[in-house]
Amino acid sequence: AERIIIDTDPGQDDAVAILLALASPDEIEVLGITAVAGNVPLALTARNARIVCELAGRPDMKVFAGCDRPLRHELVTAEQVHGKSGLDGPDLPEPTMPLQGAHGVDFIIETLRAEPAGTVTLCPLGPLTNIATAFERAPDIVSRVKRIVLMGGAYFEVGNITPAAEFNIYVDPEAAALVFGAGVPLVVLPLDVTHKALVTKPRNDAFRALGNRAGTAVAEMTDFFERFDLAKYGSDGAPLHDPCVTAYLLRPDLFSGRYINVEIETVSPLTRGMTVADWWGVTDRAPNATFIGDLDADGFFSLLTERLARL
Ligand code: BDR
Ligand code: CA
Repeated sequence: AERIIIDTDPGQDDAVAILLALASPDEIEVLGITAVAGNVPLALTARNARIVCELAGRPDMKVFAGCDRPLRHELVTAEQVHGKSGLDGPDLPEPTMPLQGAHGVDFIIETLRAEPAGTVTLCPLGPLTNIATAFERAPDIVSRVKRIVLMGGAYFEVGNITPAAEFNIYVDPEAAALVFGAGVPLVVLPLDVTHKALVTKPRNDAFRALGNRAGTAVAEMTDFFERFDLAKYGSDGAPLHDPCVTAYLLRPDLFSGRYINVEIETVSPLTRGMTVADWWGVTDRAPNATFIGDLDADGFFSLLTERLARL
């Protein structure tokens, strides 16, 4: 199994990504979950991560609180998308499982030092503050990371929080620049692919028809999430951004992309947080990321539905 740390700011789509990972123990071993400030403030993301673990029947999972604000800017949140709690939609109980005492960044550092080099994958689903802080504080861990598979950025689909930038990168572009420049093998799932993972009504009905708590909760989360995206994009349904990360671990064959150079804009006020992706190879800058552009959406949704049925 691929051994991973999920770094997350739940978020309904983060929640679905976590459920997919926890429903797939043969292929994915989750070593721990670190919460970061993003969609909502840290206290809520740390709470929501535990709600999701309990929903998956995994109250034993280690959940840590990480950084409560970006490296150099004030936190920008997204309650307009995710609701006040970050996980609006389903009526889920307050978590009873504990939050771990250690800081999320220390958990990342200690885990990478303790495990054999090249065996731990990082899966960021929110702003990259925790990962960047860990790399900055403990440069020795960088070469020990197997790979980073993250949701963030956009190229053809440009921005969702500004015309130029995707939310996760926009919230902490300095952290993103550090992570993209770290030299770790990187797989990026940008809006270009997540905007193809649309929860149409039949797909959402399939979640609901599972008849288990997870299926119902996911259907209700998507119902909520959809209000915003339908109004905004007028598309067939809400994009399930973050589950693309865990689906990629399970079925990389469902995705395609290019190994290219991707740089992060940190300076310009107009395009702050833009992922400048050299899709057409027009520079001689060295490739640093596999930038995913397409997915088999039907394959993705049947995988997700089949796995949620196991919970
Ligand atoms: C990303 O931003 C958040 O709102 C979602 O959870 C996802 O990680 C999409 O831009
Ligand atoms: Ca997220």
